[in-house]
Amino acid sequence: MNSTPQNSLHPAIFADAQTLRAQAERLVTQMSEDEKFSWLSGPMAIPVGDTQKPAGAIGSAAYYPAIPRLGIPAMQQADASLGISNIGNVRPGDHATGLPSSLALGASFNTRLAYESGALVGREARAKGFNVQLAGGINLIREPRCGRNFEYVSEDPLLSGVMGGHSVAGIQAQGVVSTVKHFIANGQETGRVMVSSNLSEPAMRESDLLAFQIAIELGNPGAVMPGYNLINGDYASEHGFLINHVLKGQWRYPGWVMSDWGATHSTVKAALAGLDVQSGANLDDQAYFGQALRNAVKDGRVPQSRIDDMVTRILTSLLAVGILDQAEAESKPQPIDFSAHKLIAQRQAEEGIVLLKNDAGCLPIPQKRKRILVIGEHADHGVLCGGGSSAVTPLGSLKKQGTTIMGVGVDKVYQPAPLVAAIAEESSAEEVTFLDGSDIDLAVFEAGRSDVVIVFAQEWRSEGLDAVGLGLPGNQDALIGAVAAANRATVVVIQSGGPVLMPWKDEVGAILAVWYPGSGAAAAISGILFGRVNPSGHLPLTFPASESQLPRPEQIDPETTTSNPGMPRKGGIIPIDYDIEGSDVGYRWFAREGLKPLFPFGFGLSYTQYEISGLNVAYGEHIKTSVQVMNSGKRAGKLVVQCYVARLGEEGFVRRLAGFAKVDLDAGQHSIAELELELRVFARYEEGPDGGGFKIATGTYRVWAAQHAEAEDAYQDIVVDEDRFIAP
Ligand code: BGC
Repeated sequence: MNSTPQNSLHPAIFADAQTLRAQAERLVTQMSEDEKFSWLSGPMAIPVGDTQKPAGAIGSAAYYPAIPRLGIPAMQQADASLGISNIGNVRPGDHATGLPSSLALGASFNTRLAYESGALVGREARAKGFNVQLAGGINLIREPRCGRNFEYVSEDPLLSGVMGGHSVAGIQAQGVVSTVKHFIANGQETGRVMVSSNLSEPAMRESDLLAFQIAIELGNPGAVMPGYNLINGDYASEHGFLINHVLKGQWRYPGWVMSDWGATHSTVKAALAGLDVQSGANLDDQAYFGQALRNAVKDGRVPQSRIDDMVTRILTSLLAVGILDQAEAESKPQPIDFSAHKLIAQRQAEEGIVLLKNDAGCLPIPQKRKRILVIGEHADHGVLCGGGSSAVTPLGSLKKQGTTIMGVGVDKVYQPAPLVAAIAEESSAEEVTFLDGSDIDLAVFEAGRSDVVIVFAQEWRSEGLDAVGLGLPGNQDALIGAVAAANRATVVVIQSGGPVLMPWKDEVGAILAVWYPGSGAAAAISGILFGRVNPSGHLPLTFPASESQLPRPEQIDPETTTSNPGMPRKGGIIPIDYDIEGSDVGYRWFAREGLKPLFPFGFGLSYTQYEISGLNVAYGEHIKTSVQVMNSGKRAGKLVVQCYVARLGEEGFVRRLAGFAKVDLDAGQHSIAELELELRVFARYEEGPDGGGFKIATGTYRVWAAQHAEAEDAYQDIVVDEDRFIAP
């Protein structure tokens, strides 16, 4: 048995934070004020409007100049979590491996894959000369329609924190700083620079903050990026409570805090709240961390020690991942093994694809099917990739018109992944017909004369835009419904940036959620369709049955607000009440309200069957569990064991993911999976005179093991007879 438990990693690049900081401080004493200030604010390092790419910049999100006399290299910062982006083709012709979206990472429940995919991003970044990667989308998915959900892992704090933390660790093991973002509660893109995410402290501690806390503990990211939004009325970039008190104070975070691009709003307030760098300063209305900060130091409004601390923090993180030891030659472009990286992307896609429905005999597609019809826009070319700063354009990408963010055109990218060719190759069909789906009548006619129909449905999302509703765009619902009526053996493969509604669910034979599946998609998807690969992904977020089930069914009209920085502001600050669900995000909200989703969190079918029994829970300093697992079916597979907890009798503490593991099991194999559960998931956060903390209150807790959030395969009740406090 090969098992990847959630806590398989204890990297400790900041283990010796004090020594690293002392080393950084010594360097800072040798820096001139000009040198220090050259690192505290910078423009986007791509030409935008009147701003040119700075000399020395490779061309990416940001560049800060080297200080050669002190052996300090330039900082070249690139986006993002899913590969190395090349926004606006600033590095003409440069390309990279496209990883599946972070939702696929969450769906894999596989920490080893998270680490490996992070390592891929780190290797490609370093090979291209970047040493800071703006990677690590840890935001909890509170709004299933959010345009950037494809950059985020899940709706659960444990899953997001653990998977994100492993991915960060993988990046940094390559000598590249990783940046978790967007700290915190950057829940939607519509009006993202105008919305205030309002949430009580206990709720944020148990949800959005907990996700970041776990990711930071596991991954030790060198940098943290607050988002564009406000939290309880203060901009994230100047939020003294979140940055100074929680992050740098309580969590003793030794790295630096960089604003999002064009998200700085003040000099003194931001500097004293703990912001260390004004990023994308050309998008802000003022050079807040330029001359204004120098003036503030001169007249005593910001102490010199704060400036030194800002630079010290940056250097501490660079030292921690070894950037100051990297030879200059190493920071020049190096070859990349794209074939090996494509295989990593493929493995991640394979484990992140979720089989949602499968009528008997539909999937895997039997080899006797002779006529296969494939339908879907550009399915002969490739697969969608999410838009915005994180879009990755592997060689051969197809670029269609997308949107504009901050004056830069954002393409709708189809990454090369020839699905139709892969299907033809993997099957023994005599005929594989391809249609783009624009002509429904033709699709219905062809479906009627085919043995099986595969529809590649798609929903493109981008930074700066939320999805309007959860329906598939255009005529796709009508197309799927009509095709399925003509041929029940219809397999719908959904490429999406989140959940979608499925009015045709009961009419089709099988459904796969493949997210944005990346460079290895063709082999991954055809492998699952024809059974070379056994699906093992599980939903990292709830698929609602309708938008009326959401805590906030209504959406803001994007025309009434401003969503991007550097743009004239329309309307006022928009409060978003996240206290409606509080810390009960996603499936916890559905459980608390007794709502039945279309597909629950954690759900995913396989071509085999598993049994879980005999759960044993030992409550002590740690909470350790062991559970018997068995593959009772006829083929090898990977089971995702999920442990949930409820405090019996406490309203509102009805279901929380406390641990998970992915276990490889051969056909017929029994095994024991051992999981350590996250203590803080058993706790409620209480505010108190000493700053508050997590409290596991006395009472009875039910722990159960299951294969999704609405199941219970084996349980044990444990009695906690003494209140237990855990530092925040
Ligand atoms: C995004 C960040 C990104 C930055 C730099 C912003 O628009 O919100 O996630 O890292 O741009 O490209």
